[in-house]
Amino acid sequence: MERVAGEIIEVSRLRGSLKRPSRSDKCPVEVVSMTRLGPDLRPGYKKLDIVEGYDKWAATYDRDPNPLIALEERVTLEFVGNVRGQRVLDLGCGTGRYCVLLAERGAIVVGIDPSSEMLEHARRKYTPARQFELYHGTIEEMSFPSEHFDLVLSALTLGHIPELEPTFAAAVRVLKKGSQMVISDAHPYWPVSGHDYTEFFDQTGQEYRIPIYPHLFEEYWHLSRKFRLRVEDIREPKVDARLIERFPSLEGYRGIPLAVVLKLAKCSR
Ligand SMILES: C[S@@+](CC[C@H](N)C(=O)[O-])C[C@H]1O[C@@H](n2cnc3c(N)ncnc32)[C@H](O)[C@@H]1O
Repeated sequence: MERVAGEIIEVSRLRGSLKRPSRSDKCPVEVVSMTRLGPDLRPGYKKLDIVEGYDKWAATYDRDPNPLIALEERVTLEFVGNVRGQRVLDLGCGTGRYCVLLAERGAIVVGIDPSSEMLEHARRKYTPARQFELYHGTIEEMSFPSEHFDLVLSALTLGHIPELEPTFAAAVRVLKKGSQMVISDAHPYWPVSGHDYTEFFDQTGQEYRIPIYPHLFEEYWHLSRKFRLRVEDIREPKVDARLIERFPSLEGYRGIPLAVVLKLAKCSR
C-alpha cells in the first residue's frame, strides 16, 4: 500500500505488511500552550460516547494537566523498557503520547485509534526525526499481519471497552510469540466505587463524561490464561508525595491507586 508521510490510513484499507513512510518533513509540529482549564463544579454534565467524546476532547487533551497520566507513565515506560529497533503497536494511541515517546526511543511505531480528531493531533507531532504510522479504526477491527509486532502497548484505553475478549484476541494475534504486551488503565477501584467515567471540561466550564468499565484483576487473569499470556508484573501506582507536589488537590487521596499497569508476555509455544 502506497503511503504519504504522516497520512492517517483507514484500517479497512490495510492490506499485507506494513511499510515505514519515507523520510519527509511534511507534518508540522503544533506548539500547544499550557492553559489550565481547571475543574468547574457547575452541575449538569453531558454524557458522550467514545468517539464523540474523544473527538471533542482532542483539542485540549494534551493541555489538561492529568495526574493519572503523570503516574501511569512512570511505570509504563519502565515496563516497556528498551524499544530501539522494535516494531511497536500503540492501541488507542489518542494524540500520540506514546507514539512520540517510543519513536524518540528508536522504535518503529504504529498507532491506531477510532477518534479522527485525536489522530489529527497525533499526526501533527510527526517529524522526520520521530516517525510513526497512524491508522483510523478500532483494535477489534484491525487487520495487521499476524505475529507482526515485538511489543503491543495499550495505555488508558481498555477501560472504555466493556467486553475485553475480542480486544485481547485481536491484540494477541498481531503480537510475536515470546513478546510483551503492556497495558495501563485507570485503576478499577474508581469505576467500582462509582467514578465510572472519565471527565473533561470545555472553555465554558461545561463538563463532559465518557464511560469507563471496571476490569478487575480476575478478568485480566482469565484473559491471560485464555490467550496464553504469562503475567510478568502488575503495578498499582498510588498517589504519592511526588504527585501531590505537582497536584496539591490530591492530598486527600494519598496512598490510593490511580492506575494499574500490567506486563504480559505471549507464550512461545
Ligand atoms: C484516554 S485516551 C488514551 C490515549 C493515549 N493512549 C494516551 O495514553 O495518551 C483513550 C483512547 O482510546 C481510544 N479508544 C477507545 N476505544 C477504542 C478501541 N476499541 N480501539 C482503539 N482505540 C480506542 C479513544 O479514542 C482514545 O483516544
